[in-house]
Amino acid sequence: MLLIANWKMNMTRNAITSYLDALSGEDRWAVWRDRGIRFFLAPPYPYLEFLGDQLRSRNLPIGILAQNMCAFEKGAYTGEVSAAMLKDLGVDGVLLGHSERRQYFGETDSAVAEKTSRALSLGLLPVVCFGETWEEREAGSCSEVWTRQVGPVWERVVKARSEGIGIPVYWAYEPVWAIGTGRTAVLDDIREVSRHLRKDFGEEVASGLLYGGSVNDDSVSGLCEKGTVHGFLVGTAFLEPKCVLRIFDRLFGSR
Ligand code: 13P
Repeated sequence: MLLIANWKMNMTRNAITSYLDALSGEDRWAVWRDRGIRFFLAPPYPYLEFLGDQLRSRNLPIGILAQNMCAFEKGAYTGEVSAAMLKDLGVDGVLLGHSERRQYFGETDSAVAEKTSRALSLGLLPVVCFGETWEEREAGSCSEVWTRQVGPVWERVVKARSEGIGIPVYWAYEPVWAIGTGRTAVLDDIREVSRHLRKDFGEEVASGLLYGGSVNDDSVSGLCEKGTVHGFLVGTAFLEPKCVLRIFDRLFGSR
């Protein structure tokens, strides 16, 4: 089970310090880690290193993901950040193809595929986001959208597997209409995504399925089904450390 806090373009060093202070008050992090529950924070680029130092000094078993990276290896790409730089900072993995990157920064399916290849070749754990807009859902074209977004990435993953790269890939179903809207998908929607991924791409993809979109402490239990949902990608609710603790308690509470 994987939980990811996507902080998006939020937080400052002070805010991160208070956030980690609040998480440090919880004594079950090591217990959860030992049960195979992995928690990642995804801060903006400038805070990756600071966050790493803070987590280490507090001995918190929490990983770090970047929110994006460049598809190119290195060179004259002003404003970009390479996979090698993320690796150099001790980052564990990277969110790729988030709908906000597709929507506001023109990120294409093929760019997401390139980035996934690059991440895998450098040993970064890729979390690939996909999901339909409300219009696409209304038009009944969800499954085409899922296949169009996941397909080119999966081809690259298959190639990486043939080259002996075994790093897992996670696939975050984040319907655009559910992101930051307070409207979540229901478990039946996620089951349909899971079935579709299994049919088109096989068990490996289905077994890495995460869900994101207005997950909070009220909705999370109803979205959880063993064998279908392998984790959550959370924006708004995970800006609040109290909410992180409430969600962990709901999902894994028993001591
Ligand atoms: P919200 O949890 O704010 O809907 O954001 C979801 C998301 O985009 C996570 O990547």
